[in-house]
Amino acid sequence: MEGASLSGKTALIIGASSGIGLATANLFADSGAKVHAAARRREAIQEGAGGRDVTAHALDISEEESVRRTVEEVGETDGIDILAVAAGMNFPERRLEQLTADGWDAMISVNLSGAFYTIRAALPYLRASRGLVVLISSVSGRWPDASGPAYQASKAGMTELAHAAGFEEHVNGVRFTSILPGIVDTPILDNRPEPPPREVRDAALKPEDVARACLFLATLPPRAYVPELTMVPTAIQALGKTSTATPPVGEE
Ligand SMILES: NC(=O)c1ccc[n+]([C@@H]2O[C@H](COP(=O)([O-])OP(=O)(O)OC[C@H]3O[C@@H](n4cnc5c(N)ncnc54)[C@H](OP(=O)(O)O)[C@@H]3O)[C@@H](O)[C@H]2O)c1
Repeated sequence: MEGASLSGKTALIIGASSGIGLATANLFADSGAKVHAAARRREAIQEGAGGRDVTAHALDISEEESVRRTVEEVGETDGIDILAVAAGMNFPERRLEQLTADGWDAMISVNLSGAFYTIRAALPYLRASRGLVVLISSVSGRWPDASGPAYQASKAGMTELAHAAGFEEHVNGVRFTSILPGIVDTPILDNRPEPPPREVRDAALKPEDVARACLFLATLPPRAYVPELTMVPTAIQALGKTSTATPPVGEE
């Protein structure tokens, strides 16, 4: 264990079989939290945990009933101090002219409705613990880029869901932070129509960087509320700057 800064806290991380969610679950476990981790691929969570004491749950975030069951199981057993939602997806056929109604619905249900289902089910436990919610949104919800209208709409919705929830719930001690990362070197990039080359991936943020931002938020005193946190790779992006001239880079 690296440190015990989260000792006594229970964290539920959704989308924890890979990338940012997996790195966050592992860092939280290393920091002393009791960690419940969920995704569709339960075995990938267990493998990725590398022997850490992480409880893995199988869950499809786009299915309200599946989300409610898991959140209630965790909440009734251990309570929930920190909820992190890192489940998300994009697909190659992302341009407006390629988007179908089915594709649009799938994107919104995983990236946006799933976050709502999770937050809604966890609210009683978060109020009881005066807890923290971290939603992994994206800079793609803030400015136009090549990630596609459905993805961008889902991420803009996620950021505003966090803002609105915090507007209501801060009086109950519940904080909602939206993290807006730029490009992070994770498997989601493989779904781009043209996956980025190695040199771009090397210059991108690492999932562990975003996990550290989650840990920072989770270790702030409860009086300190950060509604939004933007984080981009220094060599590639800056605020409002979505790409370098060569090679072109979008975000997820
Ligand atoms: N990588 C980037 O450049 C970047 C930039 C900004 C924001 N983000 C956001 O960061 C979040 C994490 O993505 P990542 O980059 O870490 O990609 P990733 O490695 O592909 O991880 C995505 C995670 O979401 C889970 N997931 C997908 N669909 C799900 C579903 N229906 N139910 C439950 N879990 C589901 C996946 O697990 P299963 O497949 O096992 O279900 C996986 O654990 C996403 O919301 C993404 O939009 C990424």
